[in-house]
Amino acid sequence: MIAITGASGNLGKATLSFLLNKTDAANVVAIVRDPQKLDAGLYAGLNVRIADYEDPSSLESALKGVDTLLHISASGMGEEALRQEANVVNAAIAAGVGRVVYTSTLCPVEGAHFLAAAVCRNTENLLRNSGMDYVIFRNSMYLETIPLFIGSAMDDGQIYYPSGNGKVSFASRLDIAEALANVLASPHSENAVYDITGAGAWNFADIAAVLRELVYPDAAHTDIPAEDYRNALQNFGMGADEISFYASMADAIRAGEFKGINPALENLLGRKPLTMADYLKSLF
Ligand SMILES: NC(=O)c1ccc[n+]([C@@H]2O[C@H](COP(=O)([O-])OP(=O)(O)OC[C@H]3O[C@@H](n4cnc5c(N)ncnc54)[C@H](OP(=O)(O)O)[C@@H]3O)[C@@H](O)[C@H]2O)c1
Repeated sequence: MIAITGASGNLGKATLSFLLNKTDAANVVAIVRDPQKLDAGLYAGLNVRIADYEDPSSLESALKGVDTLLHISASGMGEEALRQEANVVNAAIAAGVGRVVYTSTLCPVEGAHFLAAAVCRNTENLLRNSGMDYVIFRNSMYLETIPLFIGSAMDDGQIYYPSGNGKVSFASRLDIAEALANVLASPHSENAVYDITGAGAWNFADIAAVLRELVYPDAAHTDIPAEDYRNALQNFGMGADEISFYASMADAIRAGEFKGINPALENLLGRKPLTMADYLKSLF
């Protein structure tokens, strides 16, 4: 059986949909905290099991009889995320899971600016030492996060973001989901670590250039001071930890941690991934 944690989230639901086109629903387990969040009517015959990343015994029960697990990374931060992801790996070992596919982040190196990198690095190491087979998807940023990054620029073309000239090899979450489903439905092969990126990398001035072509003739990127960005997030009502998390993303982009390009996604899909320009075109 193939199980997916975080199955009620954006990536989980998309992966489920692709997977159910390849595999009988009776072979698939959606692991969720709250089954209401999964529109189960869309997935006839699917096994739905309840578990929380904070509750090791619920995870172990949910993983009974599972051969391949898609472990979707935690949505929390810091110690909480470290603990939750370790709980999933330990439960998978205890339940006798054969292979784990894990969604990591691009460039999870020591000293990375992006705060989630330390969590992903730790979980990758746990998997390497687990005795289970593993496939690691080191995902670049989702194209679908661009509207969140650029905020009101979706309405006026003015992007204020402290990323310098830093580029991001944005990849579509749907493309990543399809590639994950392809791996999940395939027989076990060699352990693998893939850098999952778009076919190009773009800075925020490139995004502004596409907005100029598409809709706002004056669109531009202004590289604001990091402190101004932090203040804006605070005014938006974010707490200190969340502000540090988002600020670390901008620092990571500026430092080039998300600029890497790799053909792995294209190879796993057997076609070109969606580009930044085509994604933005689909929004306007
Ligand atoms: N590469 C990127 O640009 C990017 C952007 C955002 C996030 N991410 C990472 O990629 C992951 C998947 O992205 P996404 O867009 O699918 O995120 P999402 O929509 O926020 O989904 C997160 C999933 O994790 C589940 N979850 C959270 N806490 C849990 C817990 N304590 N126990 C069990 N399940 C729990 C959520 O369940 P509920 O539905 O019950 O809340 C949800 O199903 C995220 O979790 C994050 O690590 C990457």
